[in-house]
Amino acid sequence: RVVAVIMVGGPTKGTRFRPLSLNVPKPLFPIAGQPMVHHPISACSRIPHLAQIYLIGFYEEREFALYVSSISHELRIPVRYLREDKPHGSAGGLYSFRDYIMEDSPSHIVLLNCDVCSSFPLPDMLEAHKKYGGMGTLLVNKVSAESANQFGELVADPETNELLHYTEKPETFVSDLINCGVYIFTPDILSAIEDVLKQKKDRANLRRVSSIEALHSATKALPPDFVRLDQDILSPRAGKKELYTYQTLDFWEQIKTPGMSLRCSGLYLSQFRHTSPHLLASGDGKRTATIVGDVYIHPSAKVHPTSKIGPNVSISANARVGAGARLINCIILDDVEIMENAVVIHSIVGWKSSIGKWSRVQGEGDHNAKLGITILGEAVDVEDEVVVVNSIVLPNKTLNVSVQEEIIL
Ligand code: GDD
Repeated sequence: RVVAVIMVGGPTKGTRFRPLSLNVPKPLFPIAGQPMVHHPISACSRIPHLAQIYLIGFYEEREFALYVSSISHELRIPVRYLREDKPHGSAGGLYSFRDYIMEDSPSHIVLLNCDVCSSFPLPDMLEAHKKYGGMGTLLVNKVSAESANQFGELVADPETNELLHYTEKPETFVSDLINCGVYIFTPDILSAIEDVLKQKKDRANLRRVSSIEALHSATKALPPDFVRLDQDILSPRAGKKELYTYQTLDFWEQIKTPGMSLRCSGLYLSQFRHTSPHLLASGDGKRTATIVGDVYIHPSAKVHPTSKIGPNVSISANARVGAGARLINCIILDDVEIMENAVVIHSIVGWKSSIGKWSRVQGEGDHNAKLGITILGEAVDVEDEVVVVNSIVLPNKTLNVSVQEEIIL
């Protein structure tokens, strides 16, 4: 049997995702019309002999209650949210719920970061992992040399795929092969974390009996029950025939910023073509809007037949799109109203916002630039004929004049 664990973090993480994480925990932000965490969950549900899916985080329980109960029903797999009282790090969090994880006596634990976008080739990875025979297998990906330092960089044996060397976000370039935050482990990972915890405790005790100066440095250090998977487990255990790599040749991205969520929305929409075509708007029939490329429209949204939508557009519940409106590369959240002949391009429009007649809300479309897309927070009103370009607008603002390259607080 297999148990899957998805690390979802907590409210003190994901700050680069503001202002969109002000309303909803980042893991529940809609990407391709589904909460971010839905994509790894549905990938896990395709693993043979999957017993349970756990989400581990330090958000309030009630924030996830509705979602976990509805997804458990939908997939007919138990999905549970386990709350840490405080952050324990990516490995410490896993360890603190070891009793739940081992309940089903799993032979394998699948561990995923929630903020990555991938086709999650988990069944293939599991097969490869069994062949390697190690404690863990990491999904890895080649990225550009310039961007590699945002990730864990690693070196693998080209023949055996063994992980030979691992450094987390190094300052000087090591390798363009990076850690994707997707792992398969045997339950031995729990003993490996326990070893680190023991070492940390011993070290803390040693410090306590030595000088005052050492005590100062100890208080600055991380708490003794905080264990990071990358620095504390992967780095020291590389090159010991315990860890192996599986390279994805399919899409993979990290979702740290709103700009990246828009890009990943497009990647998942195009994956729907193969996995869930029923979720994509078809646009055939006289009474529907003109649809271009991959588009998701929630069944409760009202989209005028003379509007033109796509490519890469997702429209959430109860949104209304008026006559003659044009939407390209954007995420439109719940209860948004887009009036007649408005244009939205390369943008994210927050919950309950409204965009007036003949207005334009647009970005230049660079997903990595700070102001490369326009973001409207919750309940922003853009009045008629106003143009908003490459800007971020915080919640509850009214814009009655045009703005460009501005952050409106
Ligand atoms: N429950 C819980 N508790 N979750 C946590 C905690 C914690 O204390 N700390 C981090 N997480 C979750 C985050 O929400 C995220 O999903 C995942 O664990 C990893 O977060 P970070 O530890 O902040 O690392 P990162 O995202 O900057 O980098 C990691 O992922 C990259 C791939 O996206 C590293 O593993 C990199 O090596 C890797 O390239």
